[in-house]
Amino acid sequence: MVQVNRRSFLKVAGTATTQTLLASSLRAVVEPDQPGTLLRPQQTEPEKPVAANDHIQIALIGAGGQGQYDTKVAVTVPGVKLVAAADCYDGRLEHSRELWGPDILTTRDYREILDRKDIDAVIIGTPDHWHKQASIDAMKAGKDVYCEKPMIHVYSDGPAMIETARETKRILQIGSQRVSNIVYAKAKELLAAGAIGQLNMVTAFWDRNSSIGAWNYTVPPDASPETCDWPRFLGTAPKIPFNGEHFFQWRKWKAYGSGVAGDLFVHLFSGTHFITGAHGPTRAMATGGLRFWKDGRDVPDVLLGLFDYPEGFNLSLRVNFVDGGSEGEGFLFAGSEGTMEIAGNSVSVNRVPRETEPGLMIGSFTDAMQKQITTAYRQKYPLVEPTEPARVGFDKYVAPRDYSDSYDHLKNFFASVRSRQPVVEDAVFGYRAAGAALLSNLSYERDAIVKWDPEQMKLG
Ligand SMILES: NC(=O)c1ccc[n+]([C@@H]2O[C@H](COP(=O)([O-])OP(=O)(O)OC[C@H]3O[C@@H](n4cnc5c(N)ncnc54)[C@H](O)[C@@H]3O)[C@@H](O)[C@H]2O)c1
Repeated sequence: MVQVNRRSFLKVAGTATTQTLLASSLRAVVEPDQPGTLLRPQQTEPEKPVAANDHIQIALIGAGGQGQYDTKVAVTVPGVKLVAAADCYDGRLEHSRELWGPDILTTRDYREILDRKDIDAVIIGTPDHWHKQASIDAMKAGKDVYCEKPMIHVYSDGPAMIETARETKRILQIGSQRVSNIVYAKAKELLAAGAIGQLNMVTAFWDRNSSIGAWNYTVPPDASPETCDWPRFLGTAPKIPFNGEHFFQWRKWKAYGSGVAGDLFVHLFSGTHFITGAHGPTRAMATGGLRFWKDGRDVPDVLLGLFDYPEGFNLSLRVNFVDGGSEGEGFLFAGSEGTMEIAGNSVSVNRVPRETEPGLMIGSFTDAMQKQITTAYRQKYPLVEPTEPARVGFDKYVAPRDYSDSYDHLKNFFASVRSRQPVVEDAVFGYRAAGAALLSNLSYERDAIVKWDPEQMKLG
């Protein structure tokens, strides 16, 4: 079979090059002639000393795994001090005192924290079903809020949180730290500079293959109605007798969590929205099932979602808790001129420019016909020696080994607390990411395509 196109002619002519010649924006971050060269990105700005009257006193509401992690990071931002923590399990209040000193206020009732005038901001690390109420109560008490993702548990949470932030003029940042990640910022810059041409499709996944990965977190042996404030934990969730698994492994039940969509799809949505600038999908369809972890949970452990974006691309997402292999997350952006991949702490572009002429498929025709067509073709598409080599090749940008996007995300929050300027991930961004993620649960439960208006943030 004879296939003729410009690339094959160039190869024959010996002029094809694998030299890396990406767009100038990409050249700015990698050594142009050494594909894969690690060039340290500019680290975040050097810290400036903080004036004594510029100190921010914070409290933690929901002192579990992520709340403690966020707070450990937050207090490394200059001028930030933790003075109180609220939680429903006494063991976590005790550990908060171990971590941040015996003098901090610890309480089961976060309203005690909100009453304190010397507290400027709170970090909310409760399960999803408390995000709205804790955020609204904190903002109404005059506190700025860093609320963990997913912003919402049910759709009505979104407008209520957005409205309260507007009314109270409080800073509300949602905790999808990848929105502050320098690798994602580089991906956004590359996409905008045309590194992969027109974006047609985004594929992203988050796979796990372990018991902890599947949310089977340890229930401490002292868990009981005495050590756990069960009614407070339940909040608006259905009233059931104390259950240690529900308390410590709450993600497994939709009364408290939002399934893999709210837990993990939401990170993939916030990443996609940040990098592409899109506000959200208009149509969604999802399927999946509870395949392996049949331990009483009421949410699937495999979920596949497909989403249409009005910008003209499709998004395909996968979470698999039983992938039989390694654990990891990643993105592949497929464009008309190449692909861009985010894996670990790097983004790479593999550029394969499109043909500039249509090509011929003529091998099955007679020799005379092949000759006739080829002659006519070359008259229409004369062979032109390129004045500069084709921009093909592979380049990679790697974040420094010790880079922390959580630090940057919290640093950004505290900068806004000081300046009163907008945060990188406000409630509208948070709702658009979580609202899009929860479409998957709706589609899965209804066994139907669901629609969403990403501008108005309303279900269709
Ligand atoms: N950004 C990220 O990468 C990331 C990672 C993990 C978790 N998260 C999010 O953080 C949140 C917490 O997750 P986790 O893994 O830390 O859960 P966790 O169970 O370890 O901690 C939640 C804590 O909240 C407490 N709590 C429940 N109701 C409360 C209330 N009314 N007042 C005060 N405390 C209350 C519980 O006692 C518990 O200690 C979730 O929304 C989750 O999605 C985000």
